[in-house]
Amino acid sequence: MSATLVKNGTIVTAADRYDADIYIDNGVITYIGRALTLPAETVIDAAGKLVMPGGVDAHTHLDLPFGETTSADDFESGTVAAAHGGTTTLIDFATPGVGEGLYHALDSWMGRAEGKATIDYAFHMTVRDLTDQVASDMDRLARHDGITSFKLFMAYPGRLMVDDATIFKALVRTRDNGGLICVHAENGTVIDVLVKDALRRGQTAPKYHALTRPSTTEGEATGRAIALAEMAGAPIYIVHVSCAEALEKVRQARDLGLPAYAETCPQYLFLSYDDYDREGFEGAKFVMSPPLREKWHRDVLWSGLKKNDLQVVASDHCPFRMDDPAQKPLGKDDFSKIPNGAPGIETRLMLLWDGGVGSGRIDVHRFVEIVATNPARMFGLWPRKGTIAVGSDGDLVVWDPDRQVTLSAKTLHMRVDYNPYEGRVITGAPAFVISRGDLIVDHGTFTGRRGRGQFIKRTPGPPLLV
Ligand code: URP
Ligand code: ZN
Ligand code: ZN
Repeated sequence: MSATLVKNGTIVTAADRYDADIYIDNGVITYIGRALTLPAETVIDAAGKLVMPGGVDAHTHLDLPFGETTSADDFESGTVAAAHGGTTTLIDFATPGVGEGLYHALDSWMGRAEGKATIDYAFHMTVRDLTDQVASDMDRLARHDGITSFKLFMAYPGRLMVDDATIFKALVRTRDNGGLICVHAENGTVIDVLVKDALRRGQTAPKYHALTRPSTTEGEATGRAIALAEMAGAPIYIVHVSCAEALEKVRQARDLGLPAYAETCPQYLFLSYDDYDREGFEGAKFVMSPPLREKWHRDVLWSGLKKNDLQVVASDHCPFRMDDPAQKPLGKDDFSKIPNGAPGIETRLMLLWDGGVGSGRIDVHRFVEIVATNPARMFGLWPRKGTIAVGSDGDLVVWDPDRQVTLSAKTLHMRVDYNPYEGRVITGAPAFVISRGDLIVDHGTFTGRRGRGQFIKRTPGPPLLV
């Protein structure tokens, strides 16, 4: 282990902005002060730059089996890409196969990440069937193994969808064990009817993915999930909110003082339904659930971020390739067979900075809050992650607000042959990325090491944010 000194920068956290140096010893911040002169093997000059907590991505799917294929980034390529984008911790979704236990899934996801991850990682656990065994495993995972959050699906009937009783029982369980239920809120049974009707009419193109998942199905499910949480007396976190109807349900609950929390993703802030109208099969690149919405929803989501009705922006990184191997084309003749998801682990901070801070929609503190501090506070990682303080891990992104980057699949590091934002020029990008004191990205060059990432056990308890 060695020491790292970050000098001459302007520290920006969710709360503060001040000029100071940061000294990281054995991976942990031990001093913050002016003109530090402590001995260090690595000295980084952050003059003219902002020094912020490394990004915390609370929603990724690396090496995820999906139907007959697997998401294109594994824990090596995915975490290298995350690091390039300024993210130093991620929470991935461990997902049991049919009939598999939660501990089996945990072992399996540990195996996927160990020896490969280049940044620190934690896991949410997907629950697909709440047997007595699963319920007691949830307690053990939350209390002893640092897996403090669980995802339940209201979509994908016959695969991952659970009924209301299951969600309610899981909420009661986490109310008592200090865990948190995360819900994918879309009305799966109604969507199933709409999908079958569309296919019967011969409507097979990618755009029908969106047209068979109207925003009312998301709004209804979001309201139902929150009502179940209220009945259970438990907090709830709605993942990947895409539309005004869903956000309105979250806002109403929060106005009543209920512990309802929600995340959105860059794709819902920057892309739109129009992307499904691209030529040929191009729309498949944007097939994800919930789908992209009409443009006006984006302003509503930005406003929700500003007013704290949405607390987190996560990537929902779930990449599938167009070619070699042909993953998206599995649904060439049937949109319902297109693997759901898109790449985003690398571009989250850059897009949010450019489209958020750069355009005046949010300030730098809110930026830090939604990409790093809030996800850490939400999911039991704070104050180890998500802030800059003595005793916190030395996870930093030294941000160059003037650096311009043209987003392109050719130059980004995700293992996918397209980028949803291809050609978009953004201003503001990482200059250096530091993980537990190690310099892992230096002006676009990866200097980290495969396998250096560590599993982070999270702390159970209520989310540490309002
Ligand atoms: O389309 C998506 N979002 N794919 C990833 C799985 C999920 O539902 O989050
Ligand atoms: Zn989901
Ligand atoms: Zn997801």
